[in-house]
Amino acid sequence: MFELKDRDANGRICKWTINEHEVTTPTIMPVVNPNKMIISMEELKKFGAEIIITNAFIIKNSASKDECVEKGLHDFLKWDGPIYTDSGTFQMYSQGVKNLLPEDMIDFQNQIKSDIVTPVDLFTLPEDIKKQAIEKTDETSVRVFTAKQLTNRLVGTIQGGLFLDLRKRACKEIAAADPEVFAIGGIVPLMEQYRFKELFEIILTCKENLPAGKPVHAFGAGHPMIFAPLVALGCDLFDSAMYALAAQNDRYLTVNGTHQLGDLIEFPCNCPECVKAKPDKIKKLPKHEREQFLARHNLHVTFGEIRTIRQAIKENNLWELVQTRLRAHPNLLEAFNVIKKHKKYLMKQDIISKKSALFYLGKETEIRPEVLRAKEMIKGMSGPTFLKKPFGKVPNGLKGVYPFGQSVIPGFKDPRIKVDPKEIVRQTIEYQYGCKFNENFTVELSRQTGRIRRVWRAKTLLGTIRASDGFFIPSLEGAKYLNMKKVLIDEEEIAKHVKEGRSLFTRFIDRCDDIIPGEEVAIVYNKEIIAVGTALLNKKEISEFKRGVAIKIR
Ligand code: GUN
Ligand code: ZN
Repeated sequence: MFELKDRDANGRICKWTINEHEVTTPTIMPVVNPNKMIISMEELKKFGAEIIITNAFIIKNSASKDECVEKGLHDFLKWDGPIYTDSGTFQMYSQGVKNLLPEDMIDFQNQIKSDIVTPVDLFTLPEDIKKQAIEKTDETSVRVFTAKQLTNRLVGTIQGGLFLDLRKRACKEIAAADPEVFAIGGIVPLMEQYRFKELFEIILTCKENLPAGKPVHAFGAGHPMIFAPLVALGCDLFDSAMYALAAQNDRYLTVNGTHQLGDLIEFPCNCPECVKAKPDKIKKLPKHEREQFLARHNLHVTFGEIRTIRQAIKENNLWELVQTRLRAHPNLLEAFNVIKKHKKYLMKQDIISKKSALFYLGKETEIRPEVLRAKEMIKGMSGPTFLKKPFGKVPNGLKGVYPFGQSVIPGFKDPRIKVDPKEIVRQTIEYQYGCKFNENFTVELSRQTGRIRRVWRAKTLLGTIRASDGFFIPSLEGAKYLNMKKVLIDEEEIAKHVKEGRSLFTRFIDRCDDIIPGEEVAIVYNKEIIAVGTALLNKKEISEFKRGVAIKIR
């Protein structure tokens, strides 16, 4: 069960329920190697781990195999939260392991009571020619379907190498198997080689072609430098062996890249480990202690970045965070341009009004979906305008409307235009709802600020202008005069709840228009508008999330 709670860019904060355990995404699943536990389970939990990932293949081939089967994975690892198991695919790729029997590996994961089971997918390499990639991708689909017969807690692994048409096909096929999680595989070499453009293309292609209501895992992504961009593109889950592997090799992770311990004269970090130590001391520690210090620091940075990302989603400034992270590497900065290719998709994902002002932080700001969408929405509007980059000529009446009024653009000077309040209302409505508003109405201004507060038609309240973003928020009466997008319900009982102002859940919605998150929408029952509210989900998500709130009723 997977439920969306908050969102920004193409990122989302979700509640994921796995066998009675609750996990908040986005999150990172630390990789636990039972043969080499460098950080205890209790400590992992303190770092913020809610779910861990371990490798069933490694366990199956270790001396403690029988013990694990006997105790079950949770007792064996002393972890009472959910456990995701990988299958050995990565060992086939990285260590040339052969002859993994797909069905045995599923059986084994079932035997040890894994919560999330991974099939033995076939790792597609960036250098695979199309024919090889097709064979591996198709065989992966077959194995996912076979595995689905053996477990209902399955990972749907998406392969396809660099071939976007194959990735797309794989997404459609794997979605038909209806797994619990989708995992985008075969991307480790791209990350190792800093081929972020190809990585981003793959992620966005998959996201566009996968159902929205399931978590998406970026397989093998463990460097905190790429978490923010990958969350913004739509990934919910990461797994990290990186914290431990880097520590093993005297590497120190930061959100801006990796340092070699030997090169550090200071620790550029405020984690509890780093503030009480100096590099010179740590360099002299015995191997094991050094490794533990580095693993702890790496985990602090890793989970710290996850918290930073969640907070950015909450504040609606995830793109701003991403733009600062892109500066970590020129390839990241360049890769960001791929969002242009997916603008139609992203413009339907990103919320229409945000809690934070839009900050111009460089050229990439110009291709952010909010910017492109706002430009599209003012196309065809008439009347006098003012110039604000990167939006272009903005109708004067939208001076206080998001994002035109809530954006900080270097070099922009407030044009100090005065607009008739009625014209502001008319233009705001045209901008938001795409319709002319020709009714007779009066405008009530705030005595303190002089800003528009309410809009009336004789003694009937038609709506208010929301102070934070200048949006026109219609009353139930006002909704009848607008061309609002509609959400249809067909059960009387639900209509009753909605009229009382209770949130509308996805599963009670019969049909809806092409809604964008954050839009004001009208709820219709029996051909009558019975309520207005704010959409949390778009049309596709409303049909694909089995759970959770779709519309917050006003
Ligand atoms: N770990 C890293 N990449 C992959 C992948 O493509 N498949 C599986 N099963 N595990 C991985
Ligand atoms: Zn630190």
